[in-house]
Amino acid sequence: MTDTEPAIVLVAVEKIYRTRHGAVAALRPIDLAVRRGELLAVISPSGCGKTTLLRLVAGLTPPSAGQVRVAGRALWAGSARNAAALRGLGIVFQDANLFPWNTVRQNIGLPLALRGVKRAARDARVQALTELVGIVGFEQSWPRDLSGGMRQRAAIARALAGEPEILLLDEPFGALDALTRDAMNLELQRIWTQTGCTAVLVTHAINEAIFLADRIAVLSPRPGGIEALIEVALPRPRAPDVQASPAFLAIAAMLRALLAQGNSA
Ligand SMILES: Nc1ncnc2c1ncn2[C@@H]1O[C@H](COP(=O)(O)OP(=O)(O)O)[C@@H](O)[C@H]1O
Ligand SMILES: [Mg+2]
Repeated sequence: MTDTEPAIVLVAVEKIYRTRHGAVAALRPIDLAVRRGELLAVISPSGCGKTTLLRLVAGLTPPSAGQVRVAGRALWAGSARNAAALRGLGIVFQDANLFPWNTVRQNIGLPLALRGVKRAARDARVQALTELVGIVGFEQSWPRDLSGGMRQRAAIARALAGEPEILLLDEPFGALDALTRDAMNLELQRIWTQTGCTAVLVTHAINEAIFLADRIAVLSPRPGGIEALIEVALPRPRAPDVQASPAFLAIAAMLRALLAQGNSA
């Protein structure tokens, strides 16, 4: 990627789903630049187009109009995806999506195996990743034997296996209980800091967005558009007690007002 281009650039990106019952306008034209190395949170109530936005950035669905650029490359050339651009991306879904018939080690190493990385190099990389995400000792476990938080740690490790410049997370902790979620927020801050990657975190949780993000994009109701972009200038690393600080509470109040406004529209 060039030194000057943002990690992700959306130019007038629009999404209309064609269904049997007609067209569903999911996203109105969106312009957005995600800075290199930043953590951008995207927040809205459900149904506003957050997952659609993430799937567009991930190349999982093509835009109906506009252009997506990732790591300095156009993601689509006509109906063909740019493989080089896709290699710069790692994705974590709400449901960890680990293969149940593979061990944790095999799951994390799978993207490397698919790229033809040899066994020894793969095992070394998987070892480093299990240390990074805090699941050392669970390498031989089956996904079903892990807690929800551990499964998401493994999913994050798998997403990072190919050393992506960009990490995309779609409500990764949405199914976890509140205490595990707080712990995972701390862990994600640490992992993101250690890897130096650019991250886009989709969430509907106000505290999670503020705690983790450098900036927060607030989506309006469907068809979703960017209602506001809010800078979160809280110093890092952030400790859980930052959530009681006046600066944090002020942003939370602003977000609640913006989200309530959108909902009543
Ligand atoms: N594959 C699809 N086909 C038709 N409509 C869809 C599809 N995926 C999402 N939608 C619709 O697009 C809108 C936005 O959905 P989504 O991106 O999942 O929002 P969010 O992640 O914020 O809940 C919703 O109205 C949803 O029903
Ligand atoms: Mg969603």
